[in-house]
Amino acid sequence: MKYFIITGTSRGLGEAMAFKLISPEHQLICISRTKNNDLIAASSHLDYYEFDLQNVNQIEALMEQVFQKINLTNADGVYLINNAAIISPFSRIEQANSQDLMDNLHVNLLAPIVLTSSFIRLTQHLPLEKRILNISSASAKQLLPGMSAYSAAKAGLDAFSSCVGLEQGVESAAVKIVSVYPGMVDTSLQEQARNTSNEALTTPDIFKMVKDRGMLASPAATADKLISFLLGHSFHQGAVVEDLFL
Ligand SMILES: NC(=O)c1ccc[n+]([C@@H]2O[C@H](COP(=O)([O-])OP(=O)(O)OC[C@H]3O[C@@H](n4cnc5c(N)ncnc54)[C@H](OP(=O)(O)O)[C@@H]3O)[C@@H](O)[C@H]2O)c1
Repeated sequence: MKYFIITGTSRGLGEAMAFKLISPEHQLICISRTKNNDLIAASSHLDYYEFDLQNVNQIEALMEQVFQKINLTNADGVYLINNAAIISPFSRIEQANSQDLMDNLHVNLLAPIVLTSSFIRLTQHLPLEKRILNISSASAKQLLPGMSAYSAAKAGLDAFSSCVGLEQGVESAAVKIVSVYPGMVDTSLQEQARNTSNEALTTPDIFKMVKDRGMLASPAATADKLISFLLGHSFHQGAVVEDLFL
């Protein structure tokens, strides 16, 4: 049995990855603030945790609860997919309020860091395949006005993944960790970026153009690539994968 812990499964890419992973040989542990009843109905091998990743102090307890449900005697792989993220605040930094900035950094950076820390602590002794896939973004490098917190969080996630990769090394017991840019995907996060009414920014026009020109991939097609990558042979310790197509 392979166990997958996935954050942000109520919609978008997280939901699509969870649907792709449904199988009698896979147990899914899904985490988001809103339950996804379609996913719950689609699999009997699925536990859903309605959890707000802003509550960073409760993540360790959540992970302990999750691992109590994992039957390690029949496990041949344990995977963590840090996918949940928010784009807001979508504004120039001097116009952003501090609570929105904290929310962004909590969900996009601190939560994946604490989830990774707990995951490694709880799995390091296990003779299984252990992998962490951090869903990052090209926004870590391609900078646009209004997205400084999001870009900073994703750049931080990339540096974090590479650094933990160095700590884990390449021995067979190591937990492998990779950061990946999924490309532009037609989800509510994109919709939010397009529809922001911030007149001080030209950035929403770029997102509108991308949609109008049909440049957005479907969540299902991107989920296919991400899952093949997660379970495949090119999952190299500490890598930041900027293009899944290469
Ligand atoms: N879409 C793109 O073009 C694109 C491009 C590059 C990178 N990405 C990355 O891909 C990943 C998925 O994005 P998406 O486009 O699928 O976004 P999305 O459609 O907005 O979905 C985001 C998911 O994150 C969850 N989430 C947000 N805040 C949360 C919180 N406080 N606690 C728990 N869960 C929370 C949401 O669930 P609830 O609201 O129910 O909590 C939702 O399931 C993100 O890491 C994003 O940065 C996306």
